[in-house]
Amino acid sequence: MNLLDLHSHLLFDVDHGVQTRNLYRALLLEYRKAGINTLVLTPHLFHPTVKTKVENIRENFALAKEDASKVGIRVVLGAELYLGTQIEVRTIPIAGRYALVEFPVSGKPIGLDRKLGQLLDQGLEPVIAHVERYPWLRPDGETFRMLKDMGAWIQVNVSGIENKTAMPYIQRDQVDIIADDNHGDRTLPGRLRACLDAYPEIAARMESLDL
Ligand SMILES: [Fe+2]
Repeated sequence: MNLLDLHSHLLFDVDHGVQTRNLYRALLLEYRKAGINTLVLTPHLFHPTVKTKVENIRENFALAKEDASKVGIRVVLGAELYLGTQIEVRTIPIAGRYALVEFPVSGKPIGLDRKLGQLLDQGLEPVIAHVERYPWLRPDGETFRMLKDMGAWIQVNVSGIENKTAMPYIQRDQVDIIADDNHGDRTLPGRLRACLDAYPEIAARMESLDL
C-alpha cells in the first residue's frame, strides 16, 4: 500500500513549519519507519499572520527532494492556500492537480464559492484542509454540501481524530484524506500511520489520488 501525507509543513526554512534541514532529515526517517513513503510538502501561501519566504520554496524543495530520495521517500511540492480576502486566487497545485485550501476560523470567507470556482476554472480539484477546525462549517450544513457538490476532497488532521473534533465528519463517512499537518513534530508520522490503520477505507480513498 502506498501511504502518504498530503498536508505538511516539512519544507524547511520557508514558514513557521520545520526550520532546519537537519530536523527535516530526522523527520524523513520517522516517516520511513512509519511506512509512509510519499510526502506532500505544503508551505503556507497568503496566510494573514504566517510569513512565507516564497523565494526559498523552489530551491529548498530541490534540496528536500535530494534528501528524501536517499532514504527512499518521494516528495511532492504543493502549498496550503489561505482563502481570505484576495481577489485573484493563485496557488502551487499539488502534482499540478490538487489545491489544498484553508479558511479563516472566525467565519466563512466572503465569496467562498466564487474563489473555489476560480480554482475549478484553473482545472484544479480543491482539497479542504482540516475541515474539523471551522465552527462555521458543519457536516450537515449547506456550505459543506456546496463543497461536496463541487467535488472537493475533504481532509482532517490526525489531531482532529485524536481530540474527536473530526468525528462528526468521520461518522458520516465524509472524509477522503487524513493528514498530519506536521510543523516539526517527530511523533506525528507514527500517529498518522495509526490513524491510517484505524480507517483503512480512508487510506484506500487516498490511494486514488493521482500524485
Ligand atoms: Fe497546514
